[in-house]
Amino acid sequence: KRELIVAVDGPSGSGKSTLSRLLAAALNYINIDTGAMYRSVGLAAHRAGVHPEDDQALAELCQSLTIEFARSGAGERVLLNGEDVSEAIRTPAMSMMASRVSACSAVREAMGELQKSMGEKGGVVLEGRDIGTVVFPNAEVKFFLLASAAERGRRRFEELRAKGLQVDLQQTIAEVEERDAADSNRQHAPLVQADDALAIDTTSMTIEQVLQEMLRIVNSRR
Ligand code: C5P
Repeated sequence: KRELIVAVDGPSGSGKSTLSRLLAAALNYINIDTGAMYRSVGLAAHRAGVHPEDDQALAELCQSLTIEFARSGAGERVLLNGEDVSEAIRTPAMSMMASRVSACSAVREAMGELQKSMGEKGGVVLEGRDIGTVVFPNAEVKFFLLASAAERGRRRFEELRAKGLQVDLQQTIAEVEERDAADSNRQHAPLVQADDALAIDTTSMTIEQVLQEMLRIVNSRR
């Protein structure tokens, strides 16, 4: 069987993270959460007092930091300059910071290079916004996951609440919509479905149903 590059793109709350993780586990592939990289840059900018629209400072920041993934007993961890930031990058504030710094072309170039080096050998599931369009336009399999805005907001709300964060449903839905609008309308690598991506609307599907559909498609191309 060939070791493929599988791209999973889509808006926040569409099920990308959950499905990418499960799909990678089922295929015995490596899962690469590219959103976690942009979140890490956002956190680094926040800590360094770098304004998320200061392209020059962001470019320098990207040259000076390291982002790695480590698999441990506690699941997959994200390391920023060696520090475990897996929890720190998941707050609503860091979601918005990630979206803002990710509009900077120097940030996208630096992260894109990192993603290419991590994924080029195949046997990977990469999850993000521009994997099938920009980072790996030649990926053998491309998925574009979708769900209604209300459902995506509800999922994000449940996820944050499960972590013990105090959040409001309507506000969470509004934030998800704001971030998707920003991601879709930016100049560099906007969130858009690749022509050859297969769209799956997960609004009223179970995780298991989506996973089986994705597995069927990947297996048909291996
Ligand atoms: O997927 P996640 O919600 O963790 O991503 C956080 C933010 O990072 C997104 O809102 C988006 O602005 C940015 N991102 C991106 N390109 C990717 C992955 C994430 O611009 N490939």
